[in-house]
Amino acid sequence: MREWSKEERYKPLESIDDIKDLEEKISKSKFRQCFHIQPRTGLLNDPNGFVYDDDTKTWHMFYQWFPWGAAHGLKYWYHVTSKDLVHWGDAGIGISPDSDMDNKGAYSGSAIKDNGEIYFFYTGNHRDENWVRTAYTCLAKLGKDNKVYKFDKPVFGPSEDYSEHQRDPKIFYDEKLQKYFIIIGARSKDDRGCLLLYESDKLTEGWAFKGEIKVEGYESFGKMWECPSIEKIGDKYIFIFSPQFIEFPDRGSITNHNVYLIGDFDVQNMIFKPEGDFGHLDLGFDFYAAACAANTEKPVLSAWMGLPDAFYYTDEEDWSGCLILPRELSIEGGKLKQRPVKSMFDILKKEIEYKEVSLEELINIMNTPENNGLYEIQAPAVIKIATANQGFTMGLLCDESKEGGISLSYSQEDKTLKISKALLKHRINPEFGEERVNVFEDGLTEITCFIDKSSIEIFFNDGDQVFTTRIFPEGEKYIAFRN
Ligand code: FRU
Repeated sequence: MREWSKEERYKPLESIDDIKDLEEKISKSKFRQCFHIQPRTGLLNDPNGFVYDDDTKTWHMFYQWFPWGAAHGLKYWYHVTSKDLVHWGDAGIGISPDSDMDNKGAYSGSAIKDNGEIYFFYTGNHRDENWVRTAYTCLAKLGKDNKVYKFDKPVFGPSEDYSEHQRDPKIFYDEKLQKYFIIIGARSKDDRGCLLLYESDKLTEGWAFKGEIKVEGYESFGKMWECPSIEKIGDKYIFIFSPQFIEFPDRGSITNHNVYLIGDFDVQNMIFKPEGDFGHLDLGFDFYAAACAANTEKPVLSAWMGLPDAFYYTDEEDWSGCLILPRELSIEGGKLKQRPVKSMFDILKKEIEYKEVSLEELINIMNTPENNGLYEIQAPAVIKIATANQGFTMGLLCDESKEGGISLSYSQEDKTLKISKALLKHRINPEFGEERVNVFEDGLTEITCFIDKSSIEIFFNDGDQVFTTRIFPEGEKYIAFRN
Protein backbone atom coordinates (compact mmCIF):
# COMPACT_ATOMS: atom_id res chain seq x y z
CA MET A 1 0.00 0.00 0.00
CA ARG A 2 1.23 3.50 -0.83
CA GLU A 3 2.54 5.63 2.02
CA TRP A 4 1.51 9.28 1.88
CA SER A 5 3.68 12.00 3.42
CA LYS A 6 2.04 14.84 5.33
CA GLU A 7 2.99 17.16 2.49
CA GLU A 8 1.26 14.96 -0.06
CA ARG A 9 -1.82 14.63 2.11
CA TYR A 10 -2.25 18.37 2.56
CA LYS A 11 -1.34 19.58 -0.91
CA PRO A 12 -4.11 21.85 -2.24
CA LEU A 13 -5.39 21.70 -5.80
CA GLU A 14 -4.11 24.69 -7.74
CA SER A 15 -6.55 24.07 -10.55
CA ILE A 16 -8.95 21.28 -11.49
CA ASP A 17 -6.63 20.59 -14.45
CA ASP A 18 -4.17 19.15 -11.90
CA ILE A 19 -6.22 15.94 -11.78
CA LYS A 20 -6.92 15.54 -15.51
CA ASP A 21 -4.32 12.78 -16.05
CA LEU A 22 -5.41 10.95 -12.93
CA GLU A 23 -9.04 11.18 -14.04
CA GLU A 24 -8.16 9.78 -17.46
CA LYS A 25 -6.33 6.83 -15.88
CA ILE A 26 -9.15 6.09 -13.41
CA SER A 27 -11.87 6.21 -16.07
CA LYS A 28 -10.40 2.99 -17.51
CA SER A 29 -10.95 0.99 -14.31
CA LYS A 30 -13.27 -2.01 -14.70
CA PHE A 31 -14.60 -1.29 -11.21
CA ARG A 32 -16.07 2.16 -12.02
CA GLN A 33 -19.69 2.18 -10.95
CA CYS A 34 -22.70 2.73 -13.25
CA PHE A 35 -25.46 3.92 -10.93
CA HIS A 36 -23.70 5.08 -7.77
CA ILE A 37 -22.08 8.40 -6.90
CA GLN A 38 -18.32 7.84 -6.99
CA PRO A 39 -15.32 10.19 -6.74
CA ARG A 40 -14.01 11.88 -9.82
CA THR A 41 -10.52 10.88 -8.61
CA GLY A 42 -9.08 10.04 -5.20
CA LEU A 43 -11.08 9.18 -2.14
CA LEU A 44 -14.76 9.73 -1.38
CA ASN A 45 -16.03 9.37 2.16
CA ASP A 46 -19.10 10.91 3.83
CA PRO A 47 -22.19 12.27 2.06
CA ASN A 48 -22.48 15.98 2.93
CA GLY A 49 -25.04 18.77 2.53
CA PHE A 50 -27.65 16.42 1.02
CA VAL A 51 -30.77 18.51 0.30
CA TYR A 52 -33.79 18.70 -1.99
CA ASP A 53 -34.51 22.07 -3.54
CA ASP A 54 -38.27 22.02 -4.18
CA ASP A 55 -38.09 25.26 -6.22
CA THR A 56 -35.69 23.93 -8.83
CA LYS A 57 -36.74 20.28 -8.26
CA THR A 58 -33.08 19.41 -7.81
CA TRP A 59 -31.24 17.15 -5.37
CA HIS A 60 -27.88 18.47 -4.23
CA MET A 61 -25.29 16.09 -2.88
CA PHE A 62 -21.71 16.71 -1.85
CA TYR A 63 -19.13 14.16 -0.90
CA GLN A 64 -16.04 14.40 1.26
CA TRP A 65 -13.25 14.37 -1.28
CA PHE A 66 -9.48 13.93 -1.23
CA PRO A 67 -8.44 14.47 -4.86
CA TRP A 68 -4.99 12.91 -5.15
CA GLY A 69 -5.53 9.23 -4.37
CA ALA A 70 -6.99 6.73 -1.92
CA ALA A 71 -5.92 8.48 1.28
CA HIS A 72 -7.40 10.78 3.91
CA GLY A 73 -5.92 14.28 3.84
CA LEU A 74 -7.04 17.76 2.83
CA LYS A 75 -10.79 17.29 2.32
CA TYR A 76 -13.04 19.21 -0.10
CA TRP A 77 -16.80 19.06 -0.61
CA TYR A 78 -17.42 17.88 -4.19
CA HIS A 79 -20.82 18.82 -5.63
CA VAL A 80 -23.15 16.68 -7.77
CA THR A 81 -26.82 17.32 -8.62
CA SER A 82 -29.75 15.22 -9.81
CA LYS A 83 -33.40 15.52 -10.79
CA ASP A 84 -34.22 11.88 -10.02
CA LEU A 85 -31.58 10.44 -7.64
CA VAL A 86 -30.41 8.15 -10.47
CA HIS A 87 -28.56 10.42 -12.91
CA TRP A 88 -26.07 12.73 -11.26
CA GLY A 89 -24.44 15.68 -12.99
CA ASP A 90 -21.05 17.13 -12.14
CA ALA A 91 -21.25 20.55 -10.45
CA GLY A 92 -17.56 20.91 -9.59
CA ILE A 93 -15.94 21.62 -6.26
CA GLY A 94 -18.49 22.84 -3.70
CA ILE A 95 -16.35 23.92 -0.76
CA SER A 96 -12.55 24.30 -0.85
CA PRO A 97 -10.46 24.29 2.34
CA ASP A 98 -8.85 27.57 1.33
CA SER A 99 -9.25 29.78 4.41
CA ASP A 100 -7.65 29.81 7.84
CA MET A 101 -10.74 28.40 9.60
CA ASP A 102 -10.67 25.24 7.40
CA ASN A 103 -6.97 25.17 6.48
CA LYS A 104 -6.67 21.39 6.96
CA GLY A 105 -10.01 20.34 5.55
CA ALA A 106 -13.65 21.23 4.91
CA TYR A 107 -15.07 18.37 6.98
CA SER A 108 -18.58 16.93 7.04
CA GLY A 109 -21.81 18.81 7.55
CA SER A 110 -25.43 19.25 6.53
CA ALA A 111 -27.85 21.54 4.71
CA ILE A 112 -31.04 23.44 5.43
CA LYS A 113 -33.48 25.21 3.14
CA ASP A 114 -34.53 28.42 4.83
CA ASN A 115 -36.57 31.24 3.33
CA GLY A 116 -36.04 29.86 -0.15
CA GLU A 117 -32.24 29.70 0.22
CA ILE A 118 -29.98 26.72 0.82
CA TYR A 119 -27.31 26.94 3.53
CA PHE A 120 -24.61 24.51 4.58
CA PHE A 121 -23.00 24.06 7.99
CA TYR A 122 -19.69 22.19 7.98
CA THR A 123 -16.65 21.61 10.16
CA GLY A 124 -13.62 23.72 9.42
CA ASN A 125 -10.72 21.50 10.43
CA HIS A 126 -8.09 24.02 11.47
CA ARG A 127 -4.60 23.13 12.63
CA ASP A 128 -1.93 25.51 13.86
CA GLU A 129 1.82 25.24 13.20
CA ASN A 130 2.14 22.76 16.10
CA TRP A 131 -0.57 20.62 14.51
CA VAL A 132 -3.02 21.45 17.31
CA ARG A 133 -6.56 21.07 16.01
CA THR A 134 -9.48 23.49 16.41
CA ALA A 135 -12.84 22.47 14.95
CA TYR A 136 -14.90 25.44 13.77
CA THR A 137 -18.52 25.30 12.70
CA CYS A 138 -18.60 27.17 9.40
CA LEU A 139 -21.39 28.38 7.15
CA ALA A 140 -21.83 28.54 3.38
CA LYS A 141 -24.69 29.33 1.02
CA LEU A 142 -25.74 28.07 -2.39
CA GLY A 143 -25.76 30.85 -4.97
CA LYS A 144 -28.17 31.20 -7.88
CA ASP A 145 -25.24 30.18 -10.11
CA ASN A 146 -25.14 26.78 -8.34
CA LYS A 147 -21.80 27.65 -6.71
CA VAL A 148 -21.28 27.54 -2.95
CA TYR A 149 -20.17 30.73 -1.18
CA LYS A 150 -18.48 30.51 2.20
CA PHE A 151 -19.12 33.02 4.96
CA ASP A 152 -15.89 34.70 6.12
CA LYS A 153 -16.07 33.68 9.75
CA PRO A 154 -17.15 30.54 11.61
CA VAL A 155 -20.49 30.72 13.42
CA PHE A 156 -18.93 29.18 16.52
CA GLY A 157 -15.80 27.43 17.74
CA PRO A 158 -15.36 24.34 19.88
CA SER A 159 -16.57 23.98 23.44
CA GLU A 160 -13.62 24.01 25.82
CA ASP A 161 -15.14 21.34 28.03
CA TYR A 162 -14.73 18.62 25.41
CA SER A 163 -11.77 17.11 23.54
CA GLU A 164 -10.59 18.48 20.17
CA HIS A 165 -12.96 16.00 18.46
CA GLN A 166 -16.15 18.00 17.85
CA ARG A 167 -17.51 17.88 14.33
CA ASP A 168 -20.17 17.13 11.70
CA PRO A 169 -22.88 19.75 12.41
CA LYS A 170 -26.44 18.71 11.66
CA ILE A 171 -28.75 21.73 11.38
CA PHE A 172 -32.53 21.74 11.94
CA TYR A 173 -35.32 24.15 12.74
CA ASP A 174 -37.92 23.52 15.44
CA GLU A 175 -41.25 24.99 14.35
CA LYS A 176 -42.78 24.86 17.81
CA LEU A 177 -39.90 26.56 19.60
CA GLN A 178 -39.14 28.75 16.58
CA LYS A 179 -35.43 28.16 17.01
CA TYR A 180 -32.58 26.74 14.99
CA PHE A 181 -30.55 23.90 16.47
CA ILE A 182 -27.28 22.23 15.57
CA ILE A 183 -26.12 18.90 16.95
CA ILE A 184 -22.42 18.05 16.86
CA GLY A 185 -20.71 14.67 17.35
CA ALA A 186 -17.99 14.75 19.99
CA ARG A 187 -15.52 12.93 22.21
CA SER A 188 -15.48 14.01 25.85
CA LYS A 189 -12.21 14.60 27.69
CA ASP A 190 -12.73 11.28 29.47
CA ASP A 191 -13.26 9.48 26.13
CA ARG A 192 -17.01 9.11 25.85
CA GLY A 193 -18.83 9.50 22.56
CA CYS A 194 -21.41 12.25 23.01
CA LEU A 195 -23.76 14.70 21.38
CA LEU A 196 -23.55 18.49 21.80
CA LEU A 197 -26.38 20.96 21.24
CA TYR A 198 -26.24 24.57 20.01
CA GLU A 199 -29.18 26.93 19.48
CA SER A 200 -29.94 30.25 17.87
CA ASP A 201 -32.91 32.48 16.99
CA LYS A 202 -31.27 33.30 13.68
CA LEU A 203 -29.73 30.93 11.19
CA THR A 204 -26.57 32.84 10.40
CA GLU A 205 -25.61 34.25 13.81
CA GLY A 206 -26.24 34.25 17.56
CA TRP A 207 -25.31 30.62 18.15
CA ALA A 208 -24.93 29.54 21.79
CA PHE A 209 -23.80 26.26 23.34
CA LYS A 210 -26.66 24.65 25.30
CA GLY A 211 -24.94 21.51 26.59
CA GLU A 212 -24.81 17.78 26.08
CA ILE A 213 -27.88 15.85 24.98
CA LYS A 214 -28.51 12.95 27.32
CA VAL A 215 -29.05 9.76 25.33
CA GLU A 216 -30.46 7.49 28.01
CA GLY A 217 -28.56 4.23 28.38
CA TYR A 218 -25.81 5.32 26.01
CA GLU A 219 -23.57 7.16 28.47
CA SER A 220 -20.72 4.82 27.62
CA PHE A 221 -20.96 3.65 24.03
CA GLY A 222 -17.70 4.13 22.12
CA LYS A 223 -15.26 6.99 22.53
CA MET A 224 -16.37 9.26 19.69
CA TRP A 225 -19.67 9.77 17.83
CA GLU A 226 -19.27 10.93 14.24
CA CYS A 227 -21.96 12.19 11.86
CA PRO A 228 -24.99 12.44 14.18
CA SER A 229 -28.48 13.23 12.94
CA ILE A 230 -31.94 13.17 14.46
CA GLU A 231 -34.93 12.86 12.13
CA LYS A 232 -38.63 12.89 12.87
CA ILE A 233 -40.61 9.96 11.45
CA GLY A 234 -44.34 10.21 12.25
CA ASP A 235 -44.53 10.84 15.99
CA LYS A 236 -41.18 9.16 16.70
CA TYR A 237 -37.55 10.18 16.22
CA ILE A 238 -34.60 8.28 14.86
CA PHE A 239 -31.13 9.14 16.10
CA ILE A 240 -28.44 8.04 13.63
CA PHE A 241 -24.74 8.15 14.51
CA SER A 242 -21.39 6.51 13.85
CA PRO A 243 -19.77 5.42 17.13
CA GLN A 244 -16.02 4.72 17.07
CA PHE A 245 -13.65 2.65 19.22
CA ILE A 246 -16.25 0.04 20.12
CA GLU A 247 -16.50 -3.63 19.13
CA PHE A 248 -19.54 -5.89 18.89
CA PRO A 249 -19.24 -9.68 19.23
CA ASP A 250 -20.90 -10.39 15.87
CA ARG A 251 -18.95 -7.79 13.88
CA GLY A 252 -15.33 -8.97 13.84
CA SER A 253 -12.68 -6.49 14.92
CA ILE A 254 -14.37 -3.46 13.30
CA THR A 255 -14.33 -0.47 15.63
CA ASN A 256 -16.32 1.95 13.40
CA HIS A 257 -20.08 1.37 13.18
CA ASN A 258 -23.24 3.08 12.04
CA VAL A 259 -26.19 2.58 14.34
CA TYR A 260 -29.64 4.01 15.09
CA LEU A 261 -32.00 4.41 18.00
CA ILE A 262 -35.74 4.94 17.74
CA GLY A 263 -37.36 6.93 20.53
CA ASP A 264 -38.53 10.30 21.79
CA PHE A 265 -36.57 13.50 21.54
CA ASP A 266 -37.07 16.53 23.72
CA VAL A 267 -34.73 19.17 22.36
CA GLN A 268 -35.63 21.76 24.97
CA ASN A 269 -34.68 19.47 27.85
CA MET A 270 -31.87 17.89 25.85
CA ILE A 271 -33.01 14.27 26.24
CA PHE A 272 -33.24 11.43 23.74
CA LYS A 273 -35.13 8.48 25.24
CA PRO A 274 -34.60 5.32 23.18
CA GLU A 275 -37.30 2.68 22.95
CA GLY A 276 -35.60 -0.68 22.78
CA ASP A 277 -32.10 -1.55 21.76
CA PHE A 278 -29.90 0.08 19.12
CA GLY A 279 -29.77 -1.43 15.63
CA HIS A 280 -27.09 -1.45 12.94
CA LEU A 281 -28.26 0.47 9.89
CA ASP A 282 -26.73 -2.13 7.61
CA LEU A 283 -25.88 -5.82 7.86
CA GLY A 284 -22.92 -5.47 5.53
CA PHE A 285 -19.28 -4.67 5.72
CA ASP A 286 -18.92 -1.28 4.04
CA PHE A 287 -21.31 1.27 5.45
CA TYR A 288 -20.56 4.41 7.47
CA ALA A 289 -21.35 8.08 8.13
CA ALA A 290 -25.02 7.90 7.04
CA ALA A 291 -26.90 11.19 6.70
CA CYS A 292 -30.44 12.18 5.71
CA ALA A 293 -31.40 14.75 3.11
CA ALA A 294 -32.86 18.06 4.29
CA ASN A 295 -36.21 19.39 3.04
CA THR A 296 -37.93 16.09 2.24
CA GLU A 297 -41.26 14.75 3.45
CA LYS A 298 -39.82 11.41 4.53
CA PRO A 299 -36.18 10.92 5.55
CA VAL A 300 -33.98 9.91 2.61
CA LEU A 301 -30.74 8.32 3.71
CA SER A 302 -27.35 8.26 2.03
CA ALA A 303 -24.10 6.85 3.38
CA TRP A 304 -20.50 6.16 2.51
CA MET A 305 -20.13 2.64 1.10
CA GLY A 306 -16.83 2.25 2.88
CA LEU A 307 -15.13 2.36 6.25
CA PRO A 308 -12.27 4.30 7.80
CA ASP A 309 -8.98 2.34 7.91
CA ALA A 310 -10.14 -0.24 5.37
CA PHE A 311 -8.46 -1.40 2.17
CA TYR A 312 -10.23 -1.46 -1.20
CA TYR A 313 -8.95 -2.96 -4.46
CA THR A 314 -9.19 0.32 -6.29
CA ASP A 315 -6.83 2.01 -3.81
CA GLU A 316 -4.07 0.87 -6.14
CA GLU A 317 -5.84 2.68 -8.99
CA ASP A 318 -5.87 5.93 -6.94
CA TRP A 319 -9.59 6.03 -6.24
CA SER A 320 -11.81 4.65 -3.51
CA GLY A 321 -15.33 4.86 -2.11
CA CYS A 322 -18.84 5.49 -3.40
CA LEU A 323 -22.21 6.38 -1.88
CA ILE A 324 -25.07 3.92 -1.31
CA LEU A 325 -28.34 4.11 -3.24
CA PRO A 326 -30.59 6.55 -1.39
CA ARG A 327 -33.07 4.85 0.93
CA GLU A 328 -36.39 6.07 2.25
CA LEU A 329 -36.84 5.50 5.98
CA SER A 330 -40.07 4.72 7.77
CA ILE A 331 -41.09 3.16 11.07
CA GLU A 332 -43.65 0.38 10.78
CA GLY A 333 -44.83 -1.64 13.79
CA GLY A 334 -42.16 0.10 15.84
CA LYS A 335 -39.43 -1.15 13.48
CA LEU A 336 -37.24 0.64 10.98
CA LYS A 337 -37.88 0.00 7.29
CA GLN A 338 -35.35 1.07 4.66
CA ARG A 339 -36.49 0.94 1.05
CA PRO A 340 -34.83 2.18 -2.13
CA VAL A 341 -36.54 5.49 -2.99
CA LYS A 342 -39.48 4.38 -5.14
CA SER A 343 -39.17 6.96 -7.92
CA MET A 344 -35.47 6.11 -8.21
CA PHE A 345 -36.18 2.38 -8.28
CA ASP A 346 -38.82 2.80 -11.01
CA ILE A 347 -36.35 4.65 -13.25
CA LEU A 348 -33.51 2.26 -12.52
CA LYS A 349 -35.71 -0.76 -13.32
CA LYS A 350 -36.27 0.59 -16.81
CA GLU A 351 -32.69 1.54 -17.49
CA ILE A 352 -30.73 -1.49 -16.38
CA GLU A 353 -31.32 -5.23 -16.54
CA TYR A 354 -34.21 -6.03 -14.19
CA LYS A 355 -35.49 -9.46 -13.30
CA GLU A 356 -38.30 -10.44 -10.96
CA VAL A 357 -38.60 -14.18 -10.26
CA SER A 358 -39.57 -16.71 -7.63
CA LEU A 359 -37.00 -19.11 -6.25
CA GLU A 360 -38.64 -21.99 -8.18
CA GLU A 361 -38.61 -20.09 -11.47
CA LEU A 362 -34.97 -19.22 -10.97
CA ILE A 363 -34.07 -22.86 -10.30
CA ASN A 364 -36.01 -23.94 -13.40
CA ILE A 365 -34.22 -21.41 -15.60
CA MET A 366 -30.86 -22.53 -14.25
CA ASN A 367 -31.52 -26.21 -14.62
CA THR A 368 -31.93 -26.22 -18.38
CA PRO A 369 -29.08 -28.04 -20.19
CA GLU A 370 -27.79 -24.83 -21.79
CA ASN A 371 -27.61 -23.00 -18.46
CA ASN A 372 -25.94 -25.83 -16.63
CA GLY A 373 -27.01 -24.73 -13.14
CA LEU A 374 -26.00 -21.09 -13.59
CA TYR A 375 -27.90 -17.82 -13.96
CA GLU A 376 -25.84 -15.06 -15.51
CA ILE A 377 -25.98 -11.50 -14.21
CA GLN A 378 -24.22 -8.75 -16.13
CA ALA A 379 -23.74 -5.75 -13.86
CA PRO A 380 -25.38 -3.29 -13.72
CA ALA A 381 -28.49 -5.26 -12.82
CA VAL A 382 -31.29 -5.63 -10.31
CA ILE A 383 -32.76 -8.99 -9.40
CA LYS A 384 -35.73 -9.51 -7.12
CA ILE A 385 -36.34 -13.04 -5.86
CA ALA A 386 -39.49 -14.14 -4.03
CA THR A 387 -38.18 -16.83 -1.65
CA ALA A 388 -41.42 -17.55 0.24
CA ASN A 389 -39.51 -18.58 3.36
CA GLN A 390 -37.91 -21.59 1.67
CA GLY A 391 -34.38 -22.61 2.65
CA PHE A 392 -31.54 -22.14 0.14
CA THR A 393 -27.77 -21.82 -0.20
CA MET A 394 -26.85 -19.50 -2.98
CA GLY A 395 -23.61 -18.23 -4.47
CA LEU A 396 -24.23 -14.69 -5.61
CA LEU A 397 -21.73 -13.60 -8.25
CA CYS A 398 -19.78 -16.82 -8.31
CA ASP A 399 -17.79 -18.07 -11.30
CA GLU A 400 -18.59 -20.78 -13.87
CA SER A 401 -17.41 -23.48 -11.48
CA LYS A 402 -19.72 -22.11 -8.76
CA GLU A 403 -16.69 -20.88 -6.83
CA GLY A 404 -16.27 -17.42 -5.36
CA GLY A 405 -18.95 -14.78 -4.80
CA ILE A 406 -21.06 -13.89 -1.79
CA SER A 407 -22.73 -16.86 -0.06
CA LEU A 408 -26.29 -16.52 1.18
CA SER A 409 -27.55 -19.43 3.21
CA TYR A 410 -31.05 -19.39 4.67
CA SER A 411 -32.50 -22.00 6.98
CA GLN A 412 -36.28 -22.22 7.05
CA GLU A 413 -36.22 -24.01 10.39
CA ASP A 414 -34.51 -21.38 12.48
CA LYS A 415 -35.29 -18.48 10.12
CA THR A 416 -31.63 -17.60 10.04
CA LEU A 417 -29.69 -16.11 7.17
CA LYS A 418 -25.91 -16.42 7.01
CA ILE A 419 -24.01 -14.18 4.64
CA SER A 420 -20.36 -14.76 3.93
CA LYS A 421 -17.86 -12.98 1.72
CA ALA A 422 -14.98 -15.29 2.58
CA LEU A 423 -15.09 -17.03 -0.82
CA LEU A 424 -14.70 -13.86 -2.92
CA LYS A 425 -11.66 -14.02 -5.16
CA HIS A 426 -10.60 -10.50 -4.18
CA ARG A 427 -11.01 -10.74 -0.42
CA ILE A 428 -10.78 -7.45 1.43
CA ASN A 429 -10.39 -6.61 5.12
CA PRO A 430 -10.85 -10.21 6.38
CA GLU A 431 -9.77 -9.09 9.85
CA PHE A 432 -13.05 -7.15 10.12
CA GLY A 433 -14.95 -10.46 9.92
CA GLU A 434 -16.42 -12.03 6.79
CA GLU A 435 -19.70 -13.47 7.99
CA ARG A 436 -22.94 -11.91 9.18
CA VAL A 437 -26.00 -13.62 10.60
CA ASN A 438 -29.56 -12.35 10.82
CA VAL A 439 -32.73 -13.92 12.17
CA PHE A 440 -35.92 -12.97 10.33
CA GLU A 441 -38.61 -13.47 12.96
CA ASP A 442 -41.41 -13.70 10.39
CA GLY A 443 -39.30 -15.66 7.89
CA LEU A 444 -37.41 -14.47 4.81
CA THR A 445 -39.77 -13.99 1.89
CA GLU A 446 -38.03 -11.66 -0.55
CA ILE A 447 -34.61 -10.39 -1.55
CA THR A 448 -33.82 -7.57 -3.97
CA CYS A 449 -30.20 -7.25 -5.10
CA PHE A 450 -28.76 -4.12 -6.71
CA ILE A 451 -25.57 -5.16 -8.44
CA ASP A 452 -23.17 -2.57 -9.79
CA LYS A 453 -19.63 -3.03 -11.12
CA SER A 454 -18.07 -3.08 -7.66
CA SER A 455 -20.87 -3.23 -5.09
CA ILE A 456 -23.93 -5.17 -3.97
CA GLU A 457 -26.85 -3.88 -1.93
CA ILE A 458 -29.42 -6.47 -0.88
CA PHE A 459 -32.77 -5.43 0.58
CA PHE A 460 -34.53 -8.20 2.55
CA ASN A 461 -38.30 -8.45 3.11
CA ASP A 462 -39.05 -5.08 1.53
CA GLY A 463 -36.53 -3.23 3.67
CA ASP A 464 -36.55 -5.06 7.03
CA GLN A 465 -32.79 -5.34 6.64
CA VAL A 466 -30.21 -4.21 4.10
CA PHE A 467 -26.81 -5.71 3.36
CA THR A 468 -24.25 -3.53 1.59
CA THR A 469 -20.77 -4.45 0.53
CA ARG A 470 -18.06 -3.55 -1.98
CA ILE A 471 -16.95 -6.41 -4.24
CA PHE A 472 -14.27 -6.53 -6.90
CA PRO A 473 -15.37 -9.44 -9.12
CA GLU A 474 -12.92 -11.45 -11.22
CA GLY A 475 -15.14 -13.26 -13.73
CA GLU A 476 -17.69 -13.75 -10.93
CA LYS A 477 -21.04 -13.10 -12.61
CA TYR A 478 -23.41 -15.99 -11.92
CA ILE A 479 -26.00 -17.07 -9.41
CA ALA A 480 -25.76 -20.76 -8.53
CA PHE A 481 -27.22 -22.90 -5.79
CA ARG A 482 -24.76 -24.82 -3.69
CA ASN A 483 -25.25 -27.70 -1.28
C1 FRU B 1 -16.39 10.45 9.13
C2 FRU B 1 -15.43 11.64 9.26
C3 FRU B 1 -16.13 12.85 9.87
C4 FRU B 1 -15.29 13.98 9.36
C5 FRU B 1 -14.92 13.51 7.97
C6 FRU B 1 -13.56 13.91 7.50
O1 FRU B 1 -15.97 9.55 8.16
O2 FRU B 1 -14.30 11.28 10.02
O3 FRU B 1 -16.25 12.80 11.27
O4 FRU B 1 -15.99 15.19 9.34
O5 FRU B 1 -15.00 12.11 8.01
O6 FRU B 1 -13.37 13.51 6.18
